Amino acid sequence: MDKILVLDFGGQYDQLIARRIRNENVYTQIYDHDAITPDMILEQGYKGIVFTGGPNSVYSDSSISCSKKILELGIPILGICYGHQLLAHLEGGKIIAAKERSEYGKTIVHMEDSPLFKDVPKESVCWMSHSDQTQILPEGYRAIAHTDNCAIAAMECQEKNFYGVQFHPEVTHTQYGTKILFNFIFEICKCDPDWRIEDFAQRQIERYKQELGSDHVLLGLSGGVDSLVCGILLSKAIGKNLHCVLVDHGLFRMNEVQEIEKTMRKDFDIDLTIVNAKDRFLSHLQGVKEPEAKRKIIGEDFIRVFEEEAKRLKDIRILAQGTIYPDVIESGKGSSATIKSHHNVGGLPDRMRFEKIIEPLNTLFKDEVRKLGLQLGIDRKLVYRQPFPGPGLSIRVIGEVNEEKLEMLKKADAIFREELEKANLSPMSDQYFAILTDTKSVGVKGDARTYGFTVALRAVRTDDFMTAEWSRLPYEVLEKVSGRITNEVEGVGRVVYDITSKPPATVEWE
Ligand code: XMP
Repeated sequence: MDKILVLDFGGQYDQLIARRIRNENVYTQIYDHDAITPDMILEQGYKGIVFTGGPNSVYSDSSISCSKKILELGIPILGICYGHQLLAHLEGGKIIAAKERSEYGKTIVHMEDSPLFKDVPKESVCWMSHSDQTQILPEGYRAIAHTDNCAIAAMECQEKNFYGVQFHPEVTHTQYGTKILFNFIFEICKCDPDWRIEDFAQRQIERYKQELGSDHVLLGLSGGVDSLVCGILLSKAIGKNLHCVLVDHGLFRMNEVQEIEKTMRKDFDIDLTIVNAKDRFLSHLQGVKEPEAKRKIIGEDFIRVFEEEAKRLKDIRILAQGTIYPDVIESGKGSSATIKSHHNVGGLPDRMRFEKIIEPLNTLFKDEVRKLGLQLGIDRKLVYRQPFPGPGLSIRVIGEVNEEKLEMLKKADAIFREELEKANLSPMSDQYFAILTDTKSVGVKGDARTYGFTVALRAVRTDDFMTAEWSRLPYEVLEKVSGRITNEVEGVGRVVYDITSKPPATVEWE
């Protein structure tokens, strides 16, 4: 399988580069700039290397670099932004700090003929974000693009197959960015597009069949997509030797536990234990109003329950986790032997010793996990479910949580989701849910005065959940939802729509 190495110099968009290349069906791996040696690069057989952007300046004391030997391996290189400057610097060019000439945002770039710009118009919009720039090219290089402020916006040395671009081809604001990356991996590196999720599934199933033999494996299900896909994949390799545990804390959405149960037991015939721990969680949450305190209680309780379950299944020495590639990259290490925070609400304690941890999805991005889920035959609705916070509905009941409030919230939330989906509006939002506020208000029903809770509706559009825009839902749909909630959910007297973006608000209310 052909592979591209993304060498990380601390840029904001490194994962994006890797995802864009994988979207072209070429396998891509990200390594920290100093985490892979030239020998390892040769051994692992990369067909091309991308140097990413980064916050440094090549001449500053804190600047980061890589072994110069990487330039002697005969492997094509594409430098992006800082990576472009670093390549020029390592090759003997000169970079200048050009504060007064810095460029940020969409910029017109004029391009010349080059294999990197094959089928790209001579003039197009690119995304720039730099203050330093290349002033003198290294020997053997030529400039292949410029802007009004930057004479060397891209360079090439065709003889070595080295290229550098000052702009960011990986962000969507660069009009022909995907085409430029495409040219690098196919025209220059001559990769075959042979990374396919179908093959991945088959390879992993075969691998775990061999590796695990008759061993038993424990997997905690969080209710999220990753652990679900991980479970189905492993069950195809080891069948009934996989034991899944779902801790039902009572904080899942309406029918969620039943949906997971149906998928695991009926659709895939997997050994599943559902631990009913609702009373335990709710009793510990009694009287607790502070959001962080709620998160802590849920995290601790989750660990205790999982621990008890693991003890009961004492012969199991292998723990599986649904860790995905961004978790691995963000934790700053490769596939780890430490147990990653489970359920997103806390780590498993040290004393829970497993002889081995397996993470079958730890090379996949989220969109690839979803593709794999579909490939394995999991229902599309489950595969494309929206993210759900580890502490569940407890952080959507503002203030103290109790069973009565949870019931109200579950019903209101189900109505909101149902109406949005019925109106085909779900693609407009990446996350949409209801919140039960702790505000009561006066109303009138028939001739009687009511005093009920206020439900807030939240729907947001986002790419990465770091920032988010509130969704402009049609009034008619909001009206329908409001009417249904106040009529069908006893105890709720008012519905409001949250029109705050992130920042300044967060997606969740707590
Ligand atoms: P915020 O509220 O921080 O949410 O804007 C961003 C995304 O993260 C989810 N979220 C959580 N996920 N445990 C989780 O696993 C949590 O404690 C938690 N808090 C927020 C939130 O649903 C949104 O998708």
